[in-house]
Amino acid sequence: MLKKIAKKIFPGVSWKNPIVNFVFKLIDPIDYIARSARGLSYLPPYSIRVRSTGVSKECLAMNFYKDGVKFSNLLKDHASLNSESKVLEIGCGCGRTAFALSSILDDGNYYGVDIEKISLDSCKKRPIFLKKNFHFEHLDIQNDEYNPDGKSRADTYKFLYDSNSFNIVFMISVFTHMLTDDVKNYIAEISRILKPEGYCMFSTFLMDHGRNSNTNDLSFPYNESCHYFHNQSMPEIAVGYDLDFYVSEFASVGMTLAGDPLWGSWRKNPDITTTTGFGPDEFGQDILFFKKENEKEK
Ligand SMILES: C[S@@+](CC[C@H](N)C(=O)[O-])C[C@H]1O[C@@H](n2cnc3c(N)ncnc32)[C@H](O)[C@@H]1O
Repeated sequence: MLKKIAKKIFPGVSWKNPIVNFVFKLIDPIDYIARSARGLSYLPPYSIRVRSTGVSKECLAMNFYKDGVKFSNLLKDHASLNSESKVLEIGCGCGRTAFALSSILDDGNYYGVDIEKISLDSCKKRPIFLKKNFHFEHLDIQNDEYNPDGKSRADTYKFLYDSNSFNIVFMISVFTHMLTDDVKNYIAEISRILKPEGYCMFSTFLMDHGRNSNTNDLSFPYNESCHYFHNQSMPEIAVGYDLDFYVSEFASVGMTLAGDPLWGSWRKNPDITTTTGFGPDEFGQDILFFKKENEKEK
């Protein structure tokens, strides 16, 4: 009931509301003391972290650092990440995975881009990234949830990187905020900028199981083009796709599914075993890996 009232007063994401944002800023000093005691003083403040990971999960940075380490382990295990890998993170937010990667990658091998300026600017200021020469760039791309006044469009955007530049491109909780034509363009761009045999890892809500089950925390009752969505008035809040959509889009640009999908816990369905390595109350999305074919072997 309280949740329903809160949703009516504060539509969309809560951190966009100036009053809520003000309250988050009041929590920042307490958050700083608590996370400093755990050796995490270098992380961004609570009021910034909530933009990436949500309000409840981000309390005292309980999940932020741990999640980043788990994502980097997935990249090691399924995408051949090593200290020499040249990595692009699209939608890096305030650096959840970049912090973990800073102890794995050599200087200058990480590039992070995002459309949400406050989170991105926070990355640019973190001393740990300055020391490591990590690169961050703001993309002024329009998205109703994250950058409503953006000047460029995700469905036609060309990344400013040369073809065959990266060993790994990854996205955590980014396609979950993007509509069909935007995702199609990003997939084509990802294939272009990946080196042959490079990997793409991304998280998503796969619609193949439990799209409308009432055991879910989330349901996706609406459908347009290839995307399913949760909120009719702002689809970008939570978007899902079928596995077949990804398989055929990646195939059209020379990339194939690398390994089985890793199933997340967002469905709360006991019949679907979680295989991402995240616990039931941790990061809940499904995770996929695609590999770019080696032209010479074709
Ligand atoms: C839920 S947050 C996740 C942030 C970060 N990946 C993490 O794991 O903490 C979603 C992020 O996707 C970014 N985003 C949304 N649409 C995007 C687009 N078209 N291109 C790049 N980033 C985008 C948002 O600005 C936001 O930072």
